[in-house]
Amino acid sequence: MPNPRPAVLVARAVYPETLAKLRAHFEVEDNPDDTIWSAPELTRRLQGKAGAMTTGSERVDAAVLDANPQLRVVANMAVGFNNLDIPAFTARGVLATNTPDVLTETTADFGFALMMAAARRMAESEHFLRAGRWKKWRYDMFAGSDVHGATLGILGMGRIGQAIARRGALGFGMQVIYHNRSRLPAEQEAPIGARYVDKATLLREADHLVLVLPYSPQSHHAIGAAELAQMKPSATLTNVARGGIVDDAALAQALKERRIAAAGLDVFEGEPAVHPGLLAVPNVVLTPHIASATDRTRRAMADLAADNLIAALTGGKPPTPLNPEVLAAGGAA
Ligand code: DGY
Repeated sequence: MPNPRPAVLVARAVYPETLAKLRAHFEVEDNPDDTIWSAPELTRRLQGKAGAMTTGSERVDAAVLDANPQLRVVANMAVGFNNLDIPAFTARGVLATNTPDVLTETTADFGFALMMAAARRMAESEHFLRAGRWKKWRYDMFAGSDVHGATLGILGMGRIGQAIARRGALGFGMQVIYHNRSRLPAEQEAPIGARYVDKATLLREADHLVLVLPYSPQSHHAIGAAELAQMKPSATLTNVARGGIVDDAALAQALKERRIAAAGLDVFEGEPAVHPGLLAVPNVVLTPHIASATDRTRRAMADLAADNLIAALTGGKPPTPLNPEVLAAGGAA
């Protein structure tokens, strides 16, 4: 007798509760060892699956979709979705979903913390202390730059960018300037006194520049040598968006030559590899893509991804579709 339950692939390790929730509806193949599958291996494991739950690390493109014409939905456990070729999904009537909103405040907390850690040289001074090099107090020891009252520059003023701007303006008395594809409505700018500026002004005026824009071919190396050269020598740069938005080699060189003061990076080009030049300079705080990593938020992301998968394959309304036109055309379930 044919199995009436759709089969789904959970491409990476996830909470047991998430798997249990999915198993109530589907035949689930999971990845308890959290092995990173090659593209051919992912393609092979998708055979016969109606849906998949992925993270930002699994690339699903036209080739993967063409090899799996039975696939109806991919639920990404991430707000970013540059690992999914959305036009290819839409052209083939495959639904893609992501996990917005549930991680906004957590990611903003981390972005702000990373910016503060860079400005106040927390990682650098901690390494110094751990290395047993702290012998005396000194007037200029690890003197960094103030965050309160400084100019906070935000590149990419979406939900997370706005949440970081709120922290800066309302918590730390910062002047907020931002650049984005489109300007926010006045009623969103006013409570935080945010000023829309062009990119050159943003680079020139920011004391602390935070990157929160999505990765796309258009944002590739949005911050490279030319942009870094326009920043203040006292400025910091923080990236909690995606690797590839910053030219890491150019940044390592700028940090080495103190052309900017410091950086805080949670994401890297080609991660989990990190450019050796970044590992070699002291004035950068490096974290392994954990901006959304609190227990509560990661559970909320897993839950939302599972809800999307379940709704899409059981005739429900997926809460956060990326290409709703697929649903409008009668796709998914
Ligand atoms: C996201 O949600 O996009 C985070 O970067 C985790 O991948």
